[in-house]
Amino acid sequence: MRIGIAGAGNMARVMGARWSQAGHDVLVGGRDAGRAAALADQIGARAGTLREAAQHGRDAVLLAVPYSAAISVVSELANTVRGRTLIDCTNPLAQGFVLETWGGPSAAERLAAAAPGASVVKAFNLCHESVWRLTPPVFGGRPLAVPLCGDDALALETVRLLVRDLGCVPVNGGGLGRAGLLEATAALLIGLWAGEGADAQAIAPPLEYAGVDLA
Ligand SMILES: NC(=O)c1ccc[n+]([C@@H]2O[C@H](COP(=O)([O-])OP(=O)(O)OC[C@H]3O[C@@H](n4cnc5c(N)ncnc54)[C@H](OP(=O)(O)O)[C@@H]3O)[C@@H](O)[C@H]2O)c1
Repeated sequence: MRIGIAGAGNMARVMGARWSQAGHDVLVGGRDAGRAAALADQIGARAGTLREAAQHGRDAVLLAVPYSAAISVVSELANTVRGRTLIDCTNPLAQGFVLETWGGPSAAERLAAAAPGASVVKAFNLCHESVWRLTPPVFGGRPLAVPLCGDDALALETVRLLVRDLGCVPVNGGGLGRAGLLEATAALLIGLWAGEGADAQAIAPPLEYAGVDLA
């Protein structure tokens, strides 16, 4: 696949490295040309501007900038990402592990509104970059499950393939209207981990205790 990554920080480094290793043609685009070039060199990708990343990402564009910059970055690239799969991994977290989008549309929905015609898929926002670095992320013998929220079947299929490339298992999280739940889940988890030092993984019981009829 041809994958563009808008942003040249931690997530760009990790996801770009993993997808390059999986054989994809990755271009990392940053506002700082030197930083993007240095990162691309390290991970076996190409480098360019943010716009060049969006142009390159014929199959998918990963938005890897802070949420505070995401709407303006995507608005600038709106024409270029039209008709493309736009992967949103942002977490709109404010101080106190709360969502700055609380009470309104999710970050993913705001990004979709800023880039009409792009197929936004919310993914990869629940885990720290150190998790995506693992080859593969398997915990207690179970591969990490990655929930996806989006409305476009083709875009979802693309992101499912990219999830599998990481050695993870994609899980259907529902339409883009449910992306806010993924963002709220990240806020809860990060608050438990960073705020309380709690083992957040322990909050969910095994499936057989979920109270649903599995027959
Ligand atoms: N890190 C994680 O563990 C993790 C996990 C899940 C989700 N996320 C989400 O992934 C996204 C990226 O996180 P990260 O850790 O990769 O961040 P990061 O290391 O701080 O990198 C952010 C990148 O965005 C660029 N950027 C910042 N403001 C910009 C602007 N106004 N215009 C254009 N580019 C701008 C930065 O450019 P410069 O290099 O020029 O500063 C940098 O290349 C965030 O939304 C975060 O919530 C992160």
